[in-house]
Amino acid sequence: MNTASLIFFSPTGTTLRTVEAVCEGLGAEKRQWIDLTRNHGVHDPIRGDLAIVGLPVHSGRLPQPAVARLEGLRGEGRPTIIVVVYGNRAYDDALLELEDLCERKGFLVVSAGAFVGEHSYSTQDRPIAAGRPDKLDLEEAMRFGARSLAKSAGGAWSPLAASVPGKRPYKESRSMPGIKPAFDAKLCTKCLSCVAACPTGAIAADDPGAIDGRACIRCAACIKICPARAKSFDDEKILEVAAFLHEHCAARKTPEYFF
Ligand SMILES: Cc1cc2nc3c(=O)[nH]c(=O)nc-3n(C[C@H](O)[C@H](O)[C@H](O)COP(=O)(O)O)c2cc1C
Repeated sequence: MNTASLIFFSPTGTTLRTVEAVCEGLGAEKRQWIDLTRNHGVHDPIRGDLAIVGLPVHSGRLPQPAVARLEGLRGEGRPTIIVVVYGNRAYDDALLELEDLCERKGFLVVSAGAFVGEHSYSTQDRPIAAGRPDKLDLEEAMRFGARSLAKSAGGAWSPLAASVPGKRPYKESRSMPGIKPAFDAKLCTKCLSCVAACPTGAIAADDPGAIDGRACIRCAACIKICPARAKSFDDEKILEVAAFLHEHCAARKTPEYFF
């Protein structure tokens, strides 16, 4: 294979790392990155012989802005590996939703994988899948990439034969309107890295403290990137969910593949 196109939405970077490891396993000579995280507009046409589409799981579904941005792409029959990354709770209907979406957009889905990444709500005091994907996950992701190549035996790619977990209609998206990160102006150094990291443009370009709660998807990109720790979640609902996940989702879940 010459070129693989890596198509991803990854506010805190775990999905991107997983997708890169899958690509490593494919042994593609060249890579094309199509970053849907911060690109709200027009995307380059997909050039790869094969595509890898990776999205994180938000409330058992795909993040809405990622779906909207994927809608702007066309697969044109291109063999495609789909990947979801979740925070060690569950991926519910997200992989099925990604399969349906990619097929509707003309991608030929050949294999599917669900991997674990550090939960966006994980903190030092209350870790949830902290440090994942780790070495083992990345090795698994590479193996998954290599095994996906077997779907092209004889030169023609065969479509995904296995059913992926999930139900239609998909579970309802859980929204927490208005909830946004807290901001400590005393700590902020105005480096504006949070503004650049926000996938929905919810933070005012010249004022890191001005966060639009309607646009915020609570992805934690701004929290995790802030070198001064000026942002955090202090909302009770989020803290409650995080405490529950820390307590009940500590047992290690491992990657799953479907061919
Ligand atoms: C709003 C929101 C909802 C989430 N819902 C789930 C979920 O339903 N199940 C789960 O296991 N992880 C869930 N997560 C955790 C993410 O799927 C996980 O942290 C993922 O690795 C983030 O990917 P990224 O690093 O590419 O942003 C959620 C995270 C956020 C921000």
